[in-house]
Parts: sequence; C-alpha cells; structure tokens
Amino acid sequence: MNATQREPVGVIGTGYVGLVSAAGFAELGSDVYCVDIDADKIARLQRGEVPIYEPELEEMLARNSARLHFSTDLSGALERARLLFVAVGTPPTYSGDADLTAVHAVVDSIPASQGHALVMKSTVPCGTGASIRRTFAERGKDGLGYVSCPEFLKEGSAVADFLNPDRVVVGDDGGWAGDATVELYRPLLAEAHGGGSGDGELVRTDVASAEMVKLASNAFLATKISFINEIANVCEETGADVVEVARGMGLDERIGPKFLQAGIGFGGSCFPKDVDALKQLAGNSGYHFQLLNAVIEVNELQKRRVIGKLHKHLGGLVGKRVALLGLAFKPNTDDMREASSLVLAARLNADGANVSAYDPVAEEQARTLIGGVRFADSPLQALQDADAVVLVTEWPQCTELDWSEVAKAMRGRVVIDGRNALDRDAVGAAGLLYEGIGRGRTEPATGRRHEDRD
Ligand code: UGA
Repeated sequence: MNATQREPVGVIGTGYVGLVSAAGFAELGSDVYCVDIDADKIARLQRGEVPIYEPELEEMLARNSARLHFSTDLSGALERARLLFVAVGTPPTYSGDADLTAVHAVVDSIPASQGHALVMKSTVPCGTGASIRRTFAERGKDGLGYVSCPEFLKEGSAVADFLNPDRVVVGDDGGWAGDATVELYRPLLAEAHGGGSGDGELVRTDVASAEMVKLASNAFLATKISFINEIANVCEETGADVVEVARGMGLDERIGPKFLQAGIGFGGSCFPKDVDALKQLAGNSGYHFQLLNAVIEVNELQKRRVIGKLHKHLGGLVGKRVALLGLAFKPNTDDMREASSLVLAARLNADGANVSAYDPVAEEQARTLIGGVRFADSPLQALQDADAVVLVTEWPQCTELDWSEVAKAMRGRVVIDGRNALDRDAVGAAGLLYEGIGRGRTEPATGRRHEDRD
C-alpha cells in the first residue's frame, strides 16, 4: 500500500454503529466490506436502501457506493481487509449483563491468521478483550490481533459525530493492528496527533481501559441526566426553575452545559443497557455500585412523573383523551428502544385514558410496540378533542405549533412539556395551562407562574 492508499476495512454487523462507521470509512477513502447474517438487510443495502433513519446517512452511503460492498459471507472481507471492525448487537440479558452471543459468533467464525485483527466497536463489558484473546490462544489462533475502539456516536447525529469525534480511543496490547486503526482515524485527529483537519484527541491505551472509557462515559452522562432530573423535582417543591438552574450550573467550565436538560428520563439502546451492564459488571466482581442503582431508579420514576401531573390536573384519567407528541426516544431517530413513550402509553392505558399519538418517523416501529393507541398523521390530528397533551419527544414538528390552533382543537387545556422545549408564554397566551418538568406551571390568561407545591 502506498502512502495515499487507504487501508481497506471489514465491518461485521450493519446496525447503527456498523453502517455509520462503514459509510464514514468509505467517505475517508477506504474500500469497506460489510458483512451481516441478515440476508434481507444485506439485499436491501445492495439495492441502495437504508434500513434505518439517520440524518445524512443515506447520502453518505450513496456518495461512496463504489467503495461499499455488502455480503452475508465473511470470506470477501477476510480476503481484502486486515482490520475487521465488530459492530454487532450486545443487548441486555435478564440479569442485566450484556449478551455477548453475537460477539462470540464472530469470534468463532474468524479463522486462524497472522494477518487479521478484530477491532471491537460493540459495547462490551470490561474484560471481554482479554477473554477473547484467551479464546484465540486456546484455539491456536494467537496470530489474530485484537483492538478495542469504542464508539461514541449519538443517534440522530451519528454521521456528524463520526466525522468530528471529540476523541478516538484505541486500546491494544502492542502489535500492528492498533497502529493501523489509528492510521484509519488519522484524518479526523487534531494536528497534535499528526492528524488532518480534525479536532479529535487520540487516547491510545490498553484494551481494558478502552473498554472502561466507553462504559464509564455512558454511565456518567446518564448520571448527569438523572441528577438534573432530581434537581428538577426539587425545583417543583421549592419554586425554582430548573432551566435557569441548569443554565447557571452549566456556565461553570467544570460542569459544562450539556446533558443538563431535565425531562421525562433517558431512553435509547445505550444508556439504560450500559448503565445496567456496568452495575452488573461491578457486582460480578464483588463491588456494589450504589450510585448507578440510584441513576436507574430515578430514571424509572421520572418516566412516571407525567402521570402524576395528569392526575393532578384532570382528576382521574378514565375516559380522558391524552395526546402524546413524539414517541421516539429522542428526535431525529425512529428508534423506540427504551423510549419513555412506551412506559407512558402503557401507564395511561392502564389508568383508563384514551391515548392518541404522533411521531414524524417512529410510527411504524411504535405500532409494533404500543397497543391501544390512536396514531395520527399530524400533531393537530393527535390532539383533536384531547383533554391533555404531553410533549414526549422534542421534534420541531411537535414544538413549533400554532398554539391558538391547538387550543381550538383540544377539549381541555392542559399542556405537559415533558422536555421543557415549548415556548411556555405562547402556550399560556393561547389560553392553555402549561406545566414543564421542574419549572412550575403557567396559568392561562394571567400568564402568572406558580410554584408547584400544591
Ligand atoms: C449515547 C451517547 O450519548 C453516545 O455518546 C454513545 O455513543 C451512544 O449512547 C452509544 O453508546 O452508542 P444516544 O443513545 O444516541 O447516545 O443518545 P443521547 O443523545 O445520548 O440521548 C440519550 C437519552 O438521554 C435520550 O432519551 C435523551 O432524550 C436523553 N437526554 C439527553 C436527556 O433527557 N437530557 C439531556 O440533557 C440529554
């Protein structure tokens, strides 16, 4: 390979992480050999269809289609690439540990070789790399390299995150594969790391530490969210406004403004699973991770606080129509995994409410998961004759509404802002009652803000 030639790569698993990484490496100039056991998904990808909703992904895949190859067979990737990125799912088991079945299937399928290495992108418990290398040794495959290169993509901005990483973490215990992995990311690194135009910091470390960086980062961000949610709950008791509190806190450089948005709890495929997995990992080694227990419990309770607010304003919920605006676990994704809307819809149904809902892209996923819900084609259709509206996901389609139209369409007047993303003055001016999370409530007509001690 000459200096301008980019290393070809294999990517095993074409979910969010695999597909975005594959598209990203192709964008940087590599030929990418994607492998998945799901023949239907591979056929769709070969036809140029993108199986998930992720902004800019379709365009990036199309732009680089000549460099992207999709197959159900690993042999093409093995023939052409030295580095095989593993991006298969590691869902939670009943015990809360990560289910590594798919990772083990990949490990089993790699033949002995001096010239290949697995680069682990899937989120795995700390110690997985050591255990895989033991397995390689037991099976006479010691020639295979192993690198931990955790992923920090956020759904909804995954393409931008790939191209502008804060940091690239590469954990290995020597050998060619760690260096080759760094070379792949070099154009995205800051000048100090020999990089190109990027700002990314390089963290070159051992395998176990790289694995732990990933778990600890997600657990810390989840802790930040549960912390601000508890502050929000105390604000409701004391008359403070959590949005103002978070602004004041976030200006302290040591705290920072991000992930201080109070709301109805975190969801998604990562935080709930990874916090639990880290708690179990600690427990399995005899350490009781108390803080994470609280983070999980606060999050579960937070999803249900909206129900209490609805009871307070509507009396009972039997026969009341409640509209949920947004269903996905966050905007810009159709991902419904661990979405707060699932708990909300189930609780509302159990309490006898009639539930209607709108989401600009997640409806198809939601239909398979939520029963007893009337799905609508627009926010206004969802809130027709509603006694109360709950903003669940802060899609612009759900936050930028004409509130006088909303007031005309609704039967009642309660607006619960589960993400503190609405213009509460505009809501109040339309004659509706606004209540956010940790910000008191605004009465219609007077626009007077109340502490929420009652
Ligand atoms: C998260 C991490 O942010 C990524 O760095 C990581 O790579 C990814 O998990 C992963 O492990 O794969 P993601 O799950 O896509 O990314 O979503 P986030 O943007 O982190 O949001 C997670 C949840 O927290 C959402 O439900 C969101 O609404 C909620 N959230 C976020 C808050 O309630 N408040 C905030 O201030 C921020």
